[in-house]
Amino acid sequence: MLKLIRRNPSFMSAYKEYCQEFWDNNILWFRPTNPQNIDANWFERTADWYAKKEQGLVPGYAKGFHYWAVDDGRFIGEFQLRPDLDEDLMTGIGSIGYSVRITEWGKGYGKGILKQGLDIARDFGLDKVLLTINDDNIISSHICEMNGGILMDKITVENKDEGVHIMRRYWIYL
Ligand SMILES: CC(C)(COP(=O)(O)OP(=O)(O)OC[C@H]1O[C@@H](n2cnc3c(N)ncnc32)[C@H](O)[C@@H]1OP(=O)(O)O)[C@@H](O)C(=O)NCCC(=O)NCCS
Repeated sequence: MLKLIRRNPSFMSAYKEYCQEFWDNNILWFRPTNPQNIDANWFERTADWYAKKEQGLVPGYAKGFHYWAVDDGRFIGEFQLRPDLDEDLMTGIGSIGYSVRITEWGKGYGKGILKQGLDIARDFGLDKVLLTINDDNIISSHICEMNGGILMDKITVENKDEGVHIMRRYWIYL
């Protein structure tokens, strides 16, 4: 059964494989940790950074909570929640990030991760979240709409990985 768990060192090597799949396939709109940085000590080396991020204490990063998606002992993907929506997030990475390892695409996991992630957002006391989605990312827009996403607008933005592109902004009311 699919579930979202807190980051856990027992899934570290599978997490590295997941990152490698994304880097090998050059998915412009989603780039997880560089797998070259994930060595045997990576989990403990970064634990303090992630703890500080949850408190909003990492300069240049929004306060954010990271979850890993697993199914029956297999690493499936991840979910990130950024509960304090500000102007940078509104025009950047939004309230939510989610992804599925490429070898598990097309099995319903993306839809399931977002659905469970919205339950987490509700538990945080949020009444709505913003998803920002590259206009070319048809599958994510589809999943967002299936989870109640309401298109607010499309804006033109620029970032390092995606260049100048059109971004869809969806609200999901919780
Ligand atoms: C987006 C992502 C999470 C989807 O994960 P997934 O597990 O493959 O998604 P699911 O299997 O739950 O759902 C895929 C849906 O897209 C549909 N779909 C697949 N290809 C499609 C296409 N070319 N056009 C339209 N819909 C398509 C499927 O039919 C399915 O919808 P359905 O259940 O109504 O039939 C995954 O592709 C991913 O990790 N992408 C990179 C990260 C990313 O883009 N994250 C979102 C950032 S906003």
